[in-house]
Amino acid sequence: NKHLNTKFMGRNVVFVEKVDSTNNYAKNNDLSNGSLVTCEEQTTGRGRLGRRWESQKGMCMSVVLIPEIELSQISKITQVCAAAVAKALDELHIISQIKWPNDIFLNGKKICGILTEMKTEMNKNPYVVVGIGMNINNDNFPDEIKDVASSLYMEAGIIFEKSLVAAKILNNFEILYNEFIKGNFKESLDICREKSYVIGKNINLIENNLVRKATAVDISSEGELVVITENGTTEKIISGEVSVRLN
Ligand code: ATP
Ligand code: BTN
Repeated sequence: NKHLNTKFMGRNVVFVEKVDSTNNYAKNNDLSNGSLVTCEEQTTGRGRLGRRWESQKGMCMSVVLIPEIELSQISKITQVCAAAVAKALDELHIISQIKWPNDIFLNGKKICGILTEMKTEMNKNPYVVVGIGMNINNDNFPDEIKDVASSLYMEAGIIFEKSLVAAKILNNFEILYNEFIKGNFKESLDICREKSYVIGKNINLIENNLVRKATAVDISSEGELVVITENGTTEKIISGEVSVRLN
């Protein structure tokens, strides 16, 4: 791929024609640091909390990372990746927004989702799989997600080569990830803040079917969403089990 200028990310590429989920494939095979799994057809793509990711005509990729970091730091990689996707789109003159913590939005619709999963083993660095699902040239979506989903083509009217978009994502991801590993998460955070879809907005926090109203005010240095709840208290939300919806 002539657009790729990384040292290790996407240098080992595993292409599978048809697969249930590129994240599953990456998890079930012992791949080296930076390996990329991609496919033509993904049959049962997953989102967060077991939700379905509609993969038709989209681009699916999973990046394997084997970082020497504390387990508690791994969820930050999702935000590092989100910042990289937004920067990659900037380079294509597409101005996107990041819906904390793992979605990329364009004109209020979701065009990309990131799912980070990991495997751990005693005395070994964690094996992290960062899955990126990006709607590039889709021209329609199933009824269930018509109102929330869109694609680069549907929003910008431009057909992009998947390999160009993938290379731009990896180029930016490698730079921000290397900084993150050195202890500089701030570079990614600043992008997540600057491009935030939720900061300054009234939101619903959804956790175990419980909905609370709040206003998003910032993203903390640890990557938590800082909100002011209805009774005026400030809370830091950890990405785990909470879903954020604009209200
Ligand atoms: P959260 O804020 O918890 O991440 P979410 O709605 O973004 O909530 P995810 O699990 O992140 O949920 O992503 C899965 C959801 O994304 C699905 O429930 C569906 O609404 C939506 N979705 C599925 N496929 C696509 C797609 N190809 N493009 C855009 N959105 C999609
Ligand atoms: C989300 O919005 O919650 C994340 C969606 C992540 C989808 C990608 S597509 C490639 C990889 N394989 C999967 O099964 N999921 C991720």
